[in-house]
Amino acid sequence: MRTVISSVASHLPQKIVTNHDIAQTLDTSHEWIFSRTGIEQRRISGDDELASDLGIAVAQKLISQTSLNPKEIDAIVVSTTTADRRFPSCACRIQGAIGASNAFAFDINAACAGFIYGLSVADSMMQSMNLKNILLIAAETLTKFVDWTDRATCVLFGDGAGAILLQRADGDGRGVISTKLYANGEAEKYNSILSHNGSQNGNRGYTTMAGRAVFKYAIEYMASSIIAILSENGMTFDDIDWLIPHQANKRILEAMCKMKDFPIEKVVITTQLHANTSSASIPLALKDMIDCGKIKPGDTLLFTALGAGLVWGSSIVRL
Ligand code: UT7
Repeated sequence: MRTVISSVASHLPQKIVTNHDIAQTLDTSHEWIFSRTGIEQRRISGDDELASDLGIAVAQKLISQTSLNPKEIDAIVVSTTTADRRFPSCACRIQGAIGASNAFAFDINAACAGFIYGLSVADSMMQSMNLKNILLIAAETLTKFVDWTDRATCVLFGDGAGAILLQRADGDGRGVISTKLYANGEAEKYNSILSHNGSQNGNRGYTTMAGRAVFKYAIEYMASSIIAILSENGMTFDDIDWLIPHQANKRILEAMCKMKDFPIEKVVITTQLHANTSSASIPLALKDMIDCGKIKPGDTLLFTALGAGLVWGSSIVRL
């Protein structure tokens, strides 16, 4: 028995903000942002549009494109670093809003690697708890947690949500083949290069990042987890149709492919459209590629991501 991705949905806030728009109020330019990151635009959530609102919208889209009755959902797992409140979880709010009254629900926080962590958790629950339908949602509103006067960080992020429905399938080759997860939380070193300084007393705080250091770790750690998962499964890039990485920066992906001799033509890049949407970036990219017909049922996908923690990992899934 394998856990299969049987449906994919995405939801983006309406408001599109281009690099040119940002350059009107900040000392930056489209040329700088685009040449350093590949980003052209990002979606920005409204003041009252919270992570769980994006999560509810994407869950409703996913349900409407399947024949699933919300009452058949066994579990809702939400990956978010930008939950509306410390508690209750976004997952519980989504469960109530969509009428998934038989589902248990909880959030996980693994920063930009949250989709891969969530996939691993959901896959394990499917196997060990004998579940049938799990909704995995990644919903992020990082633009609410950046300092909009800090040009080194605020231009990098966008908001959005992606969701997948996980079900069970027997012996047809589809499903989650393997996942590898890693963390390195040596606080002084890693929390000083990428962290959020919000506190519990209502101060929303903002994101800080030592870009060059994160750039270096992103290449090194994502590449080593790709190499490890391929080798542990007796696979090479010839067995992979698409690499769908976390969309933090197009240059990271190009540099990784060049340094490690990975086939860049197999790498999905949607950074230009959504910017860095943290854990939502992989399901958003997956949905875009399915919609444009590039990714098809039967394709073998390799997901990889790195985020604050540091946390990182990779997963191989046959659609
Ligand atoms: O999702 C979690 C994982 N995150 C990542 O993987 C992000 C990894 N890091 C990066 O993507 C890149 O390091 C950045 C895009 C964040 C920055 O690119 P960089 O080439 O590493 O630039 P830098 O930070 O070294 O800054 C170079 C220059 C600096 O000016 P000086 O000191 O050389 O005069 C910055 O002040 O660019 C300046 N700069 C900007 N200029 C115009 C920084 N931000 C901007 C800006 N517009 N928005």
